[in-house]
Amino acid sequence: MTENLQIDRLPRTVELARDADGGATLSYVDQRLLPAELSFARTRDWRAVVDAIKALAVRGAPAIGVAGAAAVALWAQEAAAGAAGAGEGAAYRDALGRAAETVASARPTAVNLRWAAERTRDGAFRALDGGATPSEVAEALFDQVKRMEAEDEAANRAIGAHGAALLRPGSRVLTHCNAGSLATAFFGTALGVVYAAAAQGKIERVYADETRPVGQGARLTAWELARAGVPCTLVCDNMAASLMARGEVDAVVVGADRIAANGDVANKIGTYGVAVLARHHGVPFYVAAPTSTIDASVADGAGIPIEERDPAEVLPQPLAGVEVWNPAFDVTPAALVTRIVTERGAFEPGSLVY
Ligand code: MRU
Repeated sequence: MTENLQIDRLPRTVELARDADGGATLSYVDQRLLPAELSFARTRDWRAVVDAIKALAVRGAPAIGVAGAAAVALWAQEAAAGAAGAGEGAAYRDALGRAAETVASARPTAVNLRWAAERTRDGAFRALDGGATPSEVAEALFDQVKRMEAEDEAANRAIGAHGAALLRPGSRVLTHCNAGSLATAFFGTALGVVYAAAAQGKIERVYADETRPVGQGARLTAWELARAGVPCTLVCDNMAASLMARGEVDAVVVGADRIAANGDVANKIGTYGVAVLARHHGVPFYVAAPTSTIDASVADGAGIPIEERDPAEVLPQPLAGVEVWNPAFDVTPAALVTRIVTERGAFEPGSLVY
């Protein structure tokens, strides 16, 4: 049980702040270094933020959304200083649009990234329509990013409350990947449900799938749960079936990178397999995500772009004659999802409110 729950020991994952000289700097946890080292990277360079997103230094759908918004705000700061080559008027708008597109397309699957980059770009367009100067645009975008950070945490806490209501006291929860505080500005989605339930004394233990090939479960979820004081058992991905067969899992809770209009869910590769196992063993399968992860423009999972990553993540030493397939995400059909939990409530996948 979680007598030592200490959510406040978790770091702020992505945070835009003003330095003493008034300039905005993004600070983020470099997740490549965990669990060995909790280290914060700091940058004013919007291109460095794009690189950090691509390299999984910042990862997790809501976290890359906030980081992407901050990248657009940092672009505006550079433009205001005359360093982005943005010019004025229509040239400024074009340059802003190109920068926002560069940010939005850094990774293709998590819709939160595009949603946040375009929302920030549109905030800048509105400020320009109101007669704002480039400096005033930069100010407005700084404030907009700070609101997005706060909204993300508030959404996660609401998701946690709705999700905790679905869990029984003594729950043993299995999760896949890291949909924790590290994957958001703060608190987490799937692990937000765990933290809210733990605060109510409902969590006996969390089983964390290691999450091949990059180890978000082994490196991040296990670290985060231990730091927050939640009992955690790490398992290899191929152990989930045996665990369920032994009756050791009461619920599966995972996050999402994009949810189609029909309730199909894209999440970290391996999630689909866990959902099939959960159905076979009669274990409820819950997806926790903010409404910014829902993409109503995509009818079903077949329309969700799936990122394919470097083969070296699977096979560090190339082998002659061996090809590698390395999709980062898979799609779990809505029929296998018990409830989708958003900040607005817990919905059957076919009746999502957004
Ligand atoms: O490749 P990643 O580590 O960014 O993948 C992250 C996931 O799949 C998470 O489960 C998802 O983004 C939800 S995060 C709250």
